[in-house]
Amino acid sequence: KKRAPLPDDIRAAKGGTPLVSLTAYTTPMAQMMDDHCDFVLVGDSVGMVLHGLPSTLGVTMEMMIMHGQAVARGLSSAMMVIDMPFGSYEESREHAFRNAAHLMAETGAGAVKLEGGVAMADTIAFLVARGIPVMAHVGLTPQSVNTLGGYKVQGRGAARDALIADAQAVSDAGAFAVVLEKVPASLADEITALLPIPTIGIGASAGCDGQILVVDDMLGLFTAFKAKFVKRYAHLGDEGAAAIAAYAAEVRARTFPAAEHIFADEAPK
Ligand code: KIV
Ligand code: NA
Repeated sequence: KKRAPLPDDIRAAKGGTPLVSLTAYTTPMAQMMDDHCDFVLVGDSVGMVLHGLPSTLGVTMEMMIMHGQAVARGLSSAMMVIDMPFGSYEESREHAFRNAAHLMAETGAGAVKLEGGVAMADTIAFLVARGIPVMAHVGLTPQSVNTLGGYKVQGRGAARDALIADAQAVSDAGAFAVVLEKVPASLADEITALLPIPTIGIGASAGCDGQILVVDDMLGLFTAFKAKFVKRYAHLGDEGAAAIAAYAAEVRARTFPAAEHIFADEAPK
């Protein structure tokens, strides 16, 4: 088995074969993708897709640690990145360092991800200088949904230059890669050409240096809504509902459990 890439390996993949990544929150999902992904993100999307929260704002350090530990048990050949949850890094760079170090120590993650561009550049530089590899995340940053006024496409028109400045700032600050979420494809391509670090697209462009999706979205397990940038590669939610309906019918008809599922008085010889 190949060893898991390090943040420097991810950085060095700039301009090469696209980096493959997905989110994961549990051991079996992590095991399912370990051989296929370069890195796996324990995303704060866990709050919405597994815990039924209305946004990522209610996700806590404790939730990230618990899911991070579960994912770590399922990975051996993919690198693990863990999201810093809302409120754990914005206040000061010292507060950010303490929480990032805690997340890495508790989970074994090789890097953290945090949202924000120019406003977070100083914090990113502070963490990187102290041994914490940082993946940045600009464009649509869901933890800022309340100030962005919804989950809109970012960087259109007059907002284009500010988004380029955000991407440039996190790269200059030492981030080893940057997620570009929900931005025009031409802007994603321009940023990808401009930056020396890999861009990881989600709702961005096939020209990015890598792609990421929320695993429950692409498997069709999370169906409360579907963003335009989500492609469903499977429909496991529908399959699961059909399986549960079949089970319910068999229980009510007393056809489950069948002979092969039940035990005789005496153990077979
Ligand atoms: O939390 C998450 O799933 C993410 C990815 C969509 C980039 O941040
Ligand atoms: Na996230």
